[in-house]
Amino acid sequence: MPDTAQVTTNGGGPDGAEAPAGLEGVVVAHTQIGDVRGLEGFYHYRQYDAIELNRRRSLEDVWYLMFRGHLPDKAEREEFGREIAEHRALTEDMIPFLRLVAATEPFDPMTALRTAISFASQRAGFRSWLDIPAEQLYDNAMQISAQTPVLLAALYRLRGGQQPVPPDPELSVAGNYLYMLSGQRPDPQRVWALERYLVSTIDHGFNASTFTARVIASTGADIGSAVTGAIGSLSGPLHGGAPSRVLEMLDDIGSPDRAEDWVRAAVRRGDRIMGFGHRVYKGKDPRSALMREVASTLGGQTAEFAMAVEDTIVRVLAEEKPGRALNANVEFYAGVVMDASGIPRELFTPTFASSRVIGWCAHVLEQVSGNRLIRPSARYDGQAPPQPVPATD
Ligand SMILES: CC(C)(COP(=O)(O)OP(=O)(O)OC[C@H]1O[C@@H](n2cnc3c(N)ncnc32)[C@H](O)[C@@H]1OP(=O)(O)O)[C@@H](O)C(=O)NCCC(=O)NCCS
Repeated sequence: MPDTAQVTTNGGGPDGAEAPAGLEGVVVAHTQIGDVRGLEGFYHYRQYDAIELNRRRSLEDVWYLMFRGHLPDKAEREEFGREIAEHRALTEDMIPFLRLVAATEPFDPMTALRTAISFASQRAGFRSWLDIPAEQLYDNAMQISAQTPVLLAALYRLRGGQQPVPPDPELSVAGNYLYMLSGQRPDPQRVWALERYLVSTIDHGFNASTFTARVIASTGADIGSAVTGAIGSLSGPLHGGAPSRVLEMLDDIGSPDRAEDWVRAAVRRGDRIMGFGHRVYKGKDPRSALMREVASTLGGQTAEFAMAVEDTIVRVLAEEKPGRALNANVEFYAGVVMDASGIPRELFTPTFASSRVIGWCAHVLEQVSGNRLIRPSARYDGQAPPQPVPATD
């Protein structure tokens, strides 16, 4: 295959604009939700620096900003809290279905979450946004965003043979997630750490899963389809599947003095070092710097170890892959932060999905507000057609 894709005109002629493979650097939409400036190591949610927002606002406030376009005042915050609580309740008849999904072998939590969200969307009667008023689509978006962590915690507990724990209206989204997983009142520092991670991953430019959600929404499909498609996209190790692999890597390295040889051997074998490199950030990933701070506040052996090997990994990558600017990305410390917050390893990527769903839904709401079907072209480079169709043997 040639390493460039060609965007052809409708008739498929060769005179369309060229786009690089992977669509790197190609602008495919206009958005007011946020963006990433790779060279500056900066990303923003709407008009605010996402890191500053993260330090100063709750997840619920940022969610409101993403859906409504401005930060809430006190009354709006209280009203939004009630809206979240109303939308996240699961109906009793969903539990047997979730029990079945949780017991299905082989069990993969992302696949289970995708199936549960698909069912919840069907159960709630989600329909093409072309056939429903805008307020109903907004309600669907609230429901799917509010229910994702509830479904995830229910699946996890059912998988472990325990009853799901219903959300507590007194707790925040992050606090509730920890509470619904363990059944214990969560430790405030762990809630703080997890919330910082969740806020940092709500949105991040036109990444693969966001693009997937917008492509699906552009066809007029219901928002449940857009989110389940996006979850499939996020499940890949090159996108959201890295944080648990980071901890596996750290376990495998074992001690800081083994890091150099371990990483060099892995890169020479052609392996990717999980938690390093990024399509857009060619300097520092600001999310990684924030997560490093959070990990360091939480402390603990894994955090100490990750901080001790980061510089070695960056140096070896620079020696083995000169000129590629491979630094730690959000996933490197995400695993450490989630681990220290009490999230089981197998739930790392689904937990990522539980905050990114807010970004996906904000993008779906934006896509439908000025929709045009997303339908690019590809250059055919197989055998020249038309070849005669051979007769059946
Ligand atoms: C995130 C990622 C997919 C971005 O990839 P990309 O923009 O497509 O970068 P490329 O695949 O073009 O990589 C450029 C070069 O750097 C190398 N490279 C990129 N990331 C690497 C990594 N983590 N470890 C080792 N080498 C890496 C590639 O092998 C390639 O080398 P080459 O030019 O000799 O072929 C990639 O860095 C990666 O696979 N990282 C590990 C997975 C991860 O952490 N994912 C979470 C992302 S938030």
